[in-house]
Amino acid sequence: MRLQGRKAFITGAAKGIGLSVAQAFAAEGAAVALADISGEESREQSLDISERFGVNAIGVECDVADSKSVENAIATAAKTFDGVDTIACMAATLTQRLDVVDLPEEDWDNTLRVNLTGSFLVCKHGIPLLRKAGGGSIILTASQMGQVAWPGSTAYCTTKGGILQLVKGIALDHKDENIRCNSISPGGVATGRLLARWGDMETAEKEWGPKHALGRLGRPSEIAAGAVFLASDESSFMTGADLLLDGGYTAW
Ligand SMILES: NC(=O)c1ccc[n+]([C@@H]2O[C@H](COP(=O)([O-])OP(=O)(O)OC[C@H]3O[C@@H](n4cnc5c(N)ncnc54)[C@H](O)[C@@H]3O)[C@@H](O)[C@H]2O)c1
Repeated sequence: MRLQGRKAFITGAAKGIGLSVAQAFAAEGAAVALADISGEESREQSLDISERFGVNAIGVECDVADSKSVENAIATAAKTFDGVDTIACMAATLTQRLDVVDLPEEDWDNTLRVNLTGSFLVCKHGIPLLRKAGGGSIILTASQMGQVAWPGSTAYCTTKGGILQLVKGIALDHKDENIRCNSISPGGVATGRLLARWGDMETAEKEWGPKHALGRLGRPSEIAAGAVFLASDESSFMTGADLLLDGGYTAW
C-alpha cells in the first residue's frame, strides 16, 4: 500500500485518466475525493471505488474554472477526510479544432480558464491544506502537446505548455514547505476525449497509434501508474519536473 493514509483530491475524476488515477490511488490505500463538473458521475464512481477498494471515497461537483466552486469542493474533501495532502488535476475541456483565425475568442478564453487557470485555482485553494498537513504532493496534467503542436489545437497546446511552467513556479514557491509539484505528460490515451477528434476508438488507434514509437495509444491505467509514483514517497527527490508518458510520441 504505497499511499496508505493519504487524502487525495482529484479533478476530472468522473471518467478517463482522472477516474483511473482515483482508482489507482484507492487501490494503494488513499482516501479519494473525485471532483468533476459532472457531480452525479463522480458520486457514482466514488461509490464503486469505496466498494471495490474499501477506502473512504466521495464525489463532489466542482467546476475548476470557478474559484468558489473549487474552494468549496476541496473544503468538502478536507472536512470529510480531516485534511488533504495530495492533489491531482486531470480536468480539461474539449476545444473545437480550428486555427487561430477561426477560433472564437470565447473558446480560447474557456480553454485557458479550464485547463490552465483551473489548475492554478486548485493549487491556490489546495496548498493551504497541504501546508496544514505538513506537506504533500501536487500532480498537474500537461501533455506531449505541451512540447509539440498539432494543427488546429493551438489553444490546447498553449495551456499544456503553460502547465509545465506552472509546475516549476509552484515547486519553487513551496519548496521549503515539504510540498512537491510535478506534471505528467501523457501521449495519446484511449479515453472518450479522443472520440471528438477521431469519431471512434478503432479509428483513433489506427490513425494516431502509429504516431507513437510504441505503435499504439496508451491506456488510462498506464498514466495512473505514473501518478501513483508522483504521489508516493518513491518520487521524493522529484519536484518542478515533468513525467513524460507518451509512448515515444516525441522521440521521433
Ligand atoms: N486522452 C489523451 O489522449 C490525453 C493526452 C494528453 C493529455 N491528456 C490530458 O489528460 C487529462 C485527462 O484527459 P482524459 O482523456 O481523461 O479526458 P476526458 O475528457 O475523458 O475526461 C475529462 C474529465 O474532466 C471533466 N471536466 C471537464 N471540464 C471540467 C471543469 N470545468 N471542471 C471540472 N471537471 C471538468 C470532464 O467532466 C471529464 O470527467 C486532461 O488534462 C487531458 O488534457 C489526455
